[in-house]
Amino acid sequence: MYESELPQAARASELCVIGAGYVGLTSAAGLAALGHRVRVVEADPERLATLERGELPIFEPGLSELVSDLRAAGRLSFTGAISAVAGASVALLCVGTPPRTDGDPDLRQLAEAAAGVARNATGDLVAVVKSTVPPGTCDAIQLICDAHAPDAVRVTVASNPEFLRESRALEDFMNPDRVVVGGPAPAARRVRDLYPREWRILVTDRRSAELIKYASNTFLAIKISYANEIAALCEHLGADAGAVLEGTGLDPRVGSQFLRPGPGFGGSCLGKDLSGLIAVADAVGLEARVARAAREVNGWARARVVEKLERAVGDLDGARIAILGLAFKPGTDDVRDSPALDVIAALAQRGARVTASDPLAGAVDPAIERFDDPYEAASGADAVAVLTAWPQFAALDPIALGSAMRGDAVVDAVGVVDAGRFQAAGLEVLGIDRGTPGAFHPVILRPLEWTLA
Ligand SMILES: NC(=O)c1ccc[n+]([C@@H]2O[C@H](COP(=O)([O-])OP(=O)(O)OC[C@H]3O[C@@H](n4cnc5c(N)ncnc54)[C@H](O)[C@@H]3O)[C@@H](O)[C@H]2O)c1
Repeated sequence: MYESELPQAARASELCVIGAGYVGLTSAAGLAALGHRVRVVEADPERLATLERGELPIFEPGLSELVSDLRAAGRLSFTGAISAVAGASVALLCVGTPPRTDGDPDLRQLAEAAAGVARNATGDLVAVVKSTVPPGTCDAIQLICDAHAPDAVRVTVASNPEFLRESRALEDFMNPDRVVVGGPAPAARRVRDLYPREWRILVTDRRSAELIKYASNTFLAIKISYANEIAALCEHLGADAGAVLEGTGLDPRVGSQFLRPGPGFGGSCLGKDLSGLIAVADAVGLEARVARAAREVNGWARARVVEKLERAVGDLDGARIAILGLAFKPGTDDVRDSPALDVIAALAQRGARVTASDPLAGAVDPAIERFDDPYEAASGADAVAVLTAWPQFAALDPIALGSAMRGDAVVDAVGVVDAGRFQAAGLEVLGIDRGTPGAFHPVILRPLEWTLA
């Protein structure tokens, strides 16, 4: 069924994917659907057991069905043994590169996986780094592979960064804007041939490919921070940030995506890659000033939610606050670097008692009192903050919410609440994208003073 609907790879190959997370599982299923035979190696025994039971350790729309079809067709399999690399012509490294406290990513999973791949290669092999890494990493991974590959086996490292978005990972993988491949010519050609000929494929050197990923995610982070700064300006000026940003984004040179205010960007990638780019720039003596400003504004965007809650309830010490939304965005279970976690930590530090509800989010600190039902989470709350734009929260019944709450303030940081209906139900809605109509900061009259004098 998937074959008849999809384009096929330029050349079908035996592949091995290392790491069964968001990127590894999606890439493995996508590549198998494109006609390859794929073995996935997963080191975490719990994740592997889940996969062997026919379940997925993560949630991505459509992925579970595709994985089970491909397994049944014998095109996709899972193992814990790195020896599964034997016989493969390409191994895709999709392991985690989590942030360290100094901003550099932790590349230990990658170094270990590369050594394992090289040791188990039985013929010439291309080791493709799909994980997001600082420029120059593939050169270092090449040295690791050279040191571990058996004599007479050549392992060539190529870069093929992944651009999928969580919550639509499979759709993105199968319909990419571009595929970026970096590496020496024969290896790069082999990576290019993993994908259909009709896809837009940019071939370059390894460092440029690595930097394209950092530069792309940094730009998206900058856009979000810019939207948050403009939204704050709108609030002071009594302007409507929704309209201002829509009007700005309609210029195709600007574009409307990622130009929405919110509680700041989160997830496993944007913050990590932004910090990674800053760290790389530092290392070569550049300051990455725009990227640094975007990071600073993001911290401030999260803090702004706490400020709004404080303004709404007076004193946070002893206040009860319900947080609706823990995942960093709707459609995913991922809570890595989610703004909600920072907001909750700041509220708890100021003495608030926090409850939370999210339809899908994975495990969070067990100290967070969590409810499946958002109305239960809001029971007795002085204020509610909506931090993830789940459709369930857009459909909240303001009358039921108001009667569950003790207070009446709803901080809508993601712009999903129908403010008119909520206000009609007696709730006070504090958005982050709208100033008070008619509010006019006196200081903006300054340029007019001398004109009118
Ligand atoms: N998540 C995203 O949206 C996304 C998008 C684009 C790029 N990336 C990048 O892709 C990489 C992977 O991200 P992710 O979100 O899929 O990570 P993840 O943490 O969800 O998955 C990584 C998986 O690799 C496994 N693993 C680690 N070492 C291993 C080894 N030696 N052998 C076998 N398995 C091993 C881990 O157990 C884990 O299951 C990161 O560099 C990330 O920055 C992520």
